[in-house]
Amino acid sequence: MHTNESPERSIVPLEHRVARETFAGLSDGLYAGHSQFSELRENHLQASHKTIEAAAQMALDRVEPGNTARAIIFGAGTCADIPLARLAASFGHTTLVDVSIQYTLQARDSLPMPLRSKVEVVAQDITGIIDEATAWMAHPFDSHHAYLSCAANVFAGIRPCDKVPKFEEPYDFVASHLVHDQFGPSLARIVREEAYKRFGFARSSSGAHWHDRYWREQKALDDRLQQAHFDLLADTVNSSGVVHFAGSYNFRYNDQPRAGRRPIDLLGGRFALLSEPQEWQWRLTPGRLCDVAAYALQVAE
Ligand SMILES: C[S@@+](CC[C@H](N)C(=O)[O-])C[C@H]1O[C@@H](n2cnc3c(N)ncnc32)[C@H](O)[C@@H]1O
Repeated sequence: MHTNESPERSIVPLEHRVARETFAGLSDGLYAGHSQFSELRENHLQASHKTIEAAAQMALDRVEPGNTARAIIFGAGTCADIPLARLAASFGHTTLVDVSIQYTLQARDSLPMPLRSKVEVVAQDITGIIDEATAWMAHPFDSHHAYLSCAANVFAGIRPCDKVPKFEEPYDFVASHLVHDQFGPSLARIVREEAYKRFGFARSSSGAHWHDRYWREQKALDDRLQQAHFDLLADTVNSSGVVHFAGSYNFRYNDQPRAGRRPIDLLGGRFALLSEPQEWQWRLTPGRLCDVAAYALQVAE
């Protein structure tokens, strides 16, 4: 049960059942993984806390005395990798945003009451396009080819930069922690889950057997989503505020080569670095790992 002192909003709940179920399933998997592989993930969780705290401190140092310091975390999820109690204690107001908030609410509600009342949980798709990108799935299709052709056409027409949500008051600290790299893969998963139910289509994430044009359009949309995410960060932080941006890349099994682009390559000239980039490995399971890079940024002049 939530009290009046623990505000929560659901601005844009997802319309499509498959989208809601897919995101809830991903959150369950994340939560279960953090618990099953807690020792393995300890290094990642500590590095996440440390970099977020350092960037948050830079933001706090810039807040004018007497002003209420405000923080927002995009992709808060389970909050296992977010120093939530520290943020809630240091900022006058903290907003946690995720498309799937069941574990975010749990994390907020496990805070001591004086801190809980300063933390707001918002259920929102921060790309603003998931409903548009999944509404077509309500139609009947004769074949998986027709289904994926329709997905390709819809994806090709989506312009995410006009759709990202607006947060009214700017924030002194904006954190985007391991969320920008989820947009494309999550959409692909929603499409796959439905294709699996309708056509018995493979659930695996390998792209090789997919419809070529669908695959290309999904990748192109993912690139546009990532760029639109930087608009969201720049629009949400106040002009003297600090952005913590962390991304995972190079997902691989132990002996596979690393090939991915560092998240900083995506930023273009829109942000300036405030400190040395931090990098570490996140071992998700005994065999699976990825690299993580985190940046403390301000909007470039
Ligand atoms: C890898 S997790 C980030 C780590 C997370 N703080 C945790 O450990 O629980 C990515 C988070 O981003 C959220 N997410 C993915 N796409 C989203 C979207 N379009 N809008 C808002 N949240 C999204 C997921 O629900 C998930 O909680």
